[in-house]
Amino acid sequence: MKRLDGRAALITGAARGIGLAFAQAYVREGARVAIADIDTDRARAAASEIGEAAIAVELDVTRQESIDAAVAETVRAFGGIDILINNAAVFTAAPIVEIAREDYARVFDINVAGTLFTMQAVARHMIARGQGGRIINMASQAGRRGEPLVAVYCATKAAVISLTQSAALNLIEHGITVNAIAPGVVDGEHWDGVDAFFAKYENKAPGQKKREVGAGVPFGRMATPDDLTGMAVFLASDEARYIVAQTYNVDGGQWMS
Ligand SMILES: NC(=O)c1ccc[n+]([C@@H]2O[C@H](COP(=O)([O-])OP(=O)(O)OC[C@H]3O[C@@H](n4cnc5c(N)ncnc54)[C@H](O)[C@@H]3O)[C@@H](O)[C@H]2O)c1
Repeated sequence: MKRLDGRAALITGAARGIGLAFAQAYVREGARVAIADIDTDRARAAASEIGEAAIAVELDVTRQESIDAAVAETVRAFGGIDILINNAAVFTAAPIVEIAREDYARVFDINVAGTLFTMQAVARHMIARGQGGRIINMASQAGRRGEPLVAVYCATKAAVISLTQSAALNLIEHGITVNAIAPGVVDGEHWDGVDAFFAKYENKAPGQKKREVGAGVPFGRMATPDDLTGMAVFLASDEARYIVAQTYNVDGGQWMS
């Protein structure tokens, strides 16, 4: 018996990186997974590599009709959704005096509104179905404290922690648990982009910021996406049934709370 046998999961932003590692881990634990992403080509490639337990679903979390269609398509394919991981997000960085209103609105739209309204659409389905469910939101150590060049992204992740708490308290009466994972620094394409921002604003050579943050992690290196899958499986499993409204740091010792 695997820990997620018979469960169906919708994972946003799962075409690459952490979301893809979650999809692979969920399938290893017996679940079927919808890989929902704005990058449909990579979502399809990822699903076909995983095999028949995975489907690719087109999703732009900034468009309500796209969220509704992705939820409907997943329900059609699997008969229902037991687990949602709100993982899609984008990073941005700039000094306070250079933040552009359009960039602020774009990043909040994806990271915060995208999380809230995908959670809402899936919660409506879970409530109507009457079998409870699991929702896991991707926060970040960036949501625990501000950073000088990362005001907007940090604020979106603080908002995700807060939304997780409110949604959890509201949805637990329906047997739906809502929790979040706060990673530290996770190597991959996301951090390649972060590194490029710091190369620009801190005059660093490409790759330098990555080496510095990796050396600064108490564990001694950056995380890989696979370092996070244990928590994502656990929070979706029966063992986590009494865990409500929490945000777990999986960050090699970066933040203590
Ligand atoms: N990598 C890290 O160091 C790190 C640290 C803390 C938290 N996180 C969080 O973990 C999650 C995954 O991070 P990652 O490193 O795998 O990021 P990533 O950039 O590699 O992947 C993000 C995915 O989201 C998709 N996406 C972007 N906009 C979308 C939209 N509008 N609709 C649907 N999909 C969209 C992208 O196509 C991509 O596949 C994010 O929420 C991120 O903020 C990452």
